[in-house]
Amino acid sequence: MPSYAYFQKRFMPLAEAKLGVMTTALHYGTAIFEGIRGNWNSKKKQIYLFRLKDHYLRLANGCRVLKVKLPYTIDELSQITVELVAMCRFEEDVYVRPLAYKSAERLGVRLHDVEDDFLAFVIPWGPYLDVDKARCAVSSWRRPDCNVIPPNAKITGLYANNALAKSEAVENGFDEAIMLTPDGHVSEGSGENIFLVLDGKLVTPASYASILMGITRDTVIKLAQNELGIETLERQVERSELYIADECFLTGTAAHLTPVAEIDHRQIGDGEIGEVTKKLQQLYFEVIRGNNPKYLDWCTPVYKR
Ligand SMILES: Cc1ncc(COP(=O)(O)O)c(C=O)c1O
Repeated sequence: MPSYAYFQKRFMPLAEAKLGVMTTALHYGTAIFEGIRGNWNSKKKQIYLFRLKDHYLRLANGCRVLKVKLPYTIDELSQITVELVAMCRFEEDVYVRPLAYKSAERLGVRLHDVEDDFLAFVIPWGPYLDVDKARCAVSSWRRPDCNVIPPNAKITGLYANNALAKSEAVENGFDEAIMLTPDGHVSEGSGENIFLVLDGKLVTPASYASILMGITRDTVIKLAQNELGIETLERQVERSELYIADECFLTGTAAHLTPVAEIDHRQIGDGEIGEVTKKLQQLYFEVIRGNNPKYLDWCTPVYKR
């Protein structure tokens, strides 16, 4: 089954969508991206795009930061995405990568007076971390503060920081990096937010901890409150709290909800998937596959049935 792209205002096979070598965004990291999951429901023979509009709202906010003029409204972007995914006719989990970018083929470091464009493509994509339980390490690379590059916008250039941390962790034998803020508090993973279970409550770094305000993070906070009656404290998190947490897990569109078994060679809890993590994971997977009627508003069906 071929993948398709939406590129330069039309749909085309992914293999035909090519950018020029002088494209500004390629040289200066001046683009905003998103990652949207389409989750395959084999019983309903349907792909559900999870929290589609929320992803495009975040993209639009990032575009304001980076002075990228989006050529479409949120509704138009959502419609293009549904059409694009339907066109590919996949019957498996997919991942949509939208990119709003400085498209001029011209050199010069700046945001102003440079043309912008939008593209998106779809690929089949299963698990990202590909482990039941992740082994993590605190990274030697810190997250930037928001006066260096705002971490709450998915700016492509910012992700050199994430890539440095991820490769350091993997090349040192771990699955994922946990990065700290410039002043040494817990921030997030290279592509995920982090949660701890401490004294029966969820604890996660607050918005000021150089994090991306994750859509999965928000989903988990709401599911924990509504379905399990568990409160989430969004606050400053100390590095040492990582080592004494009863449970720990990572959340992200790509990584879903991945339990953490070990951090810096210290076992978390008994090293197995904790009770709260397990319950949240089950709830989360039912919700994203469109199996929980209460949360169907978060799921946009792709195929007309
Ligand atoms: C740095 C970073 N933190 C957190 C997340 C999780 O965000 P979301 O749940 O919206 O995918 C991502 C992935 O988009 C990310 O790249």
